[in-house]
Amino acid sequence: MILARSRLQNWYTENKRDLPWRSEPTPYHICLSEIILQQTRVAQGMDYYLRFVDAFPTVYLLASAEEDQILKLWQGLGYYNRARNLHAAAKQVVKMHGGIFPDQYQGLLELKGVGPYTAAAIASIAYQLPHAAVDGNVIRVIARLHGIETPVDQGPTLKDIQGLADAFLSKELPGDHNQAMMELGAMICTPRKPNCVACPLRPECKAQKLGLIEVIPVKSKKVKRRSRYFHYLIVNDGEKTAIQQRNEKDIWAGLYEFPLIETAVDESLTDEEIKAHFGLDRINVIRVNPAAKHVLSHQDIHTRFYHVALSLDQVANCKLVTFEELHTFALPRLIDRYLENNSPIDGKKRH
Ligand code: ADE
Repeated sequence: MILARSRLQNWYTENKRDLPWRSEPTPYHICLSEIILQQTRVAQGMDYYLRFVDAFPTVYLLASAEEDQILKLWQGLGYYNRARNLHAAAKQVVKMHGGIFPDQYQGLLELKGVGPYTAAAIASIAYQLPHAAVDGNVIRVIARLHGIETPVDQGPTLKDIQGLADAFLSKELPGDHNQAMMELGAMICTPRKPNCVACPLRPECKAQKLGLIEVIPVKSKKVKRRSRYFHYLIVNDGEKTAIQQRNEKDIWAGLYEFPLIETAVDESLTDEEIKAHFGLDRINVIRVNPAAKHVLSHQDIHTRFYHVALSLDQVANCKLVTFEELHTFALPRLIDRYLENNSPIDGKKRH
């Protein structure tokens, strides 16, 4: 184990990526980067991280920001509750801890949206405390290293993996060790076609010895996908357009969108359905663009956009914004993409 640990350390020293939070590993920077990286890969997450740090150089500035600004910066990362929790955690740090992140694992766990993984990452990287950070990458590395053939998405196996990760952790350099494990999972011990010949843990790897690299990690649950059908009704007067904020406990909560009808079937709306939505007798739909599929982690969103000739005062419960203002609101990615490719006024393709 000692040899494996030091080979891992050497590999990390030679191969680590030059990531912006690594040059300044304050608890705030580590917290921000880890919460962003739960949503995306390093390559994409880096831009988000830099934009956040640029907008909010300190936890005080993040705490006092408007939620809409945070959601706008988060746009495209999905799971917007993570962004809201990040905001709430910053407020906790400012209000309850005088702007200094708790310097113990338990205290970190009390921050909103900070679970065992993030608490361990902050504790080890920013404070050099011995807590093994176990995320999806590390689960895969440990499961292969120890040849674990039981499903990694079940409690008892996960507990074993956490124990093995704790035992393997370097008590002298816990932050580097944790980052080395994540880096190994991201760069070498990848889900498909891992680069075993370059792996510093190859001599100890049970999955490699047993020919189980393609089989481990084993997963038990197949998450059922859900199909949904969204119909967006665009109403504008050439200058302003109607939008509303999503506020249910659902995807994209807090983001803005055009007036929406959701149906259970993959068919265009009838004029009757659109009339009923606006409570009108007559309606003129000028364009319906064909459905486009937007794939989320557990849902397929089939979306159609309808351009409806109505005057804006016939639309209730909406904000009326100019097309320029529209882009300052946090919008679901699929709406942003639609507006890139189509005229916001009549929906004609731009190219
Ligand atoms: N993925 C999540 N956190 C990471 C980190 N600190 N370094 C590299 N990859 C990561």
